[in-house]
Amino acid sequence: MNCLVTGAAGFIGSHLCEKLLNSGFSVIGIDSFTDYYSRELKKKNLSYLLEKQKFEFIKGDINHIDLNKHIEKSDTVFHLAAQAGVRASWGDYFATYTKNNIEATQKILEASKKSKIKKIVYASSSSVYGNTPDLPMKETSRLFPYSPYGVTKLAAENLCSLYYENYGVPVVSLRFFTVYGPRQRPDMAFHKFFKAIGENRPIEIYGSGEQTRDFTYIDDIVNATITAAEKGKPGKIYNLGSGNHQKLSIVFPLLEKICGKNVTIKNIETQKGDVKNTYASISRARKDLDYNPRGTLQEGLQQEWLWIKKIYSFK
Ligand code: NAD
Ligand code: UGA
Repeated sequence: MNCLVTGAAGFIGSHLCEKLLNSGFSVIGIDSFTDYYSRELKKKNLSYLLEKQKFEFIKGDINHIDLNKHIEKSDTVFHLAAQAGVRASWGDYFATYTKNNIEATQKILEASKKSKIKKIVYASSSSVYGNTPDLPMKETSRLFPYSPYGVTKLAAENLCSLYYENYGVPVVSLRFFTVYGPRQRPDMAFHKFFKAIGENRPIEIYGSGEQTRDFTYIDDIVNATITAAEKGKPGKIYNLGSGNHQKLSIVFPLLEKICGKNVTIKNIETQKGDVKNTYASISRARKDLDYNPRGTLQEGLQQEWLWIKKIYSFK
């Protein structure tokens, strides 16, 4: 495959590029280094990739660069660039979500419409389900986004579906469920928790800690994303979760064990836009993508802690 990966300097995008390159594929990576979190972290994510001969990095915003030129050289597009993050999507910052999630996706689809692209894989989100009563969440469940972020991820997913229906653009959408592991974004729970533990601060829990999440290990997401480019059915949508869900509070003893420290918890108010539960039905991905997630919280969190210790120089 000749691959184009948007969001290549981000958490999931950089892991995806790494795996594609290690599998012998050529990769053009695009990223604009949005200021949502530190450019230094994104540069670290990219450092391994920049040493690889088959990697070309384009620093630029999808909304402004000449996409046609890069899409012409590619047969597969992995569209991961977005303004991620549920809780920051209120107020004035919403404009960043519409620009980077909806408008940027439309640009990718317009450019692909005229191309010979074999597959576009779009990184959608469990946030499209919102507080659906249907657990586990099935691809056919009704969609009730509960945050402005979720609305933009669903709008972009809908754009993918209608470009497939009208123009035959071969898009597969993947609904990722709370991804964790090394390079996790600094606004996400486990990154924040480990950093607080390393700095001997309490960890802040939104609400009671009774909320559940289907936490999914990064390697499972990356492997299935690549398989989706090969085997995913155009026009189809797939959940990618672990197929289990855990109460957030269940993770605290695990964090103590992994870090070898006592953890202090501070409960603060539930955040607007945060859903009560996520839990993926993964039978469709199992069937079409041979999806078989293997990551366990114990091992995955251990890997994330090793990375956190390195980047923050914790002993
Ligand atoms: P991330 O913020 O680490 O990576 C996204 C990257 O996209 C960033 O490096 C950013 O600079 C870049 N970007 C944003 N807008 C751009 C634009 N207009 N042009 C070029 N580059 C741009 O986020 P992530 O956690 O790696 O998420 C990757 C994708 O997966 C996103 O689409 C996100 O919505 C989706 N997703 C993530 C999770 C998760 O748990 N991390 C879960 C569900 C869905
Ligand atoms: C994550 C990603 O951040 C989104 O980009 C993604 O689209 C979404 O998953 C998804 O699955 O679709 P979230 O589930 O909120 O969103 O992931 P975390 O930030 O890791 O939060 C997990 C849980 O921990 C949430 O219930 C949150 O309320 C809680 N949390 C988070 C805290 O209690 N304290 C914190 O400091 C941070």
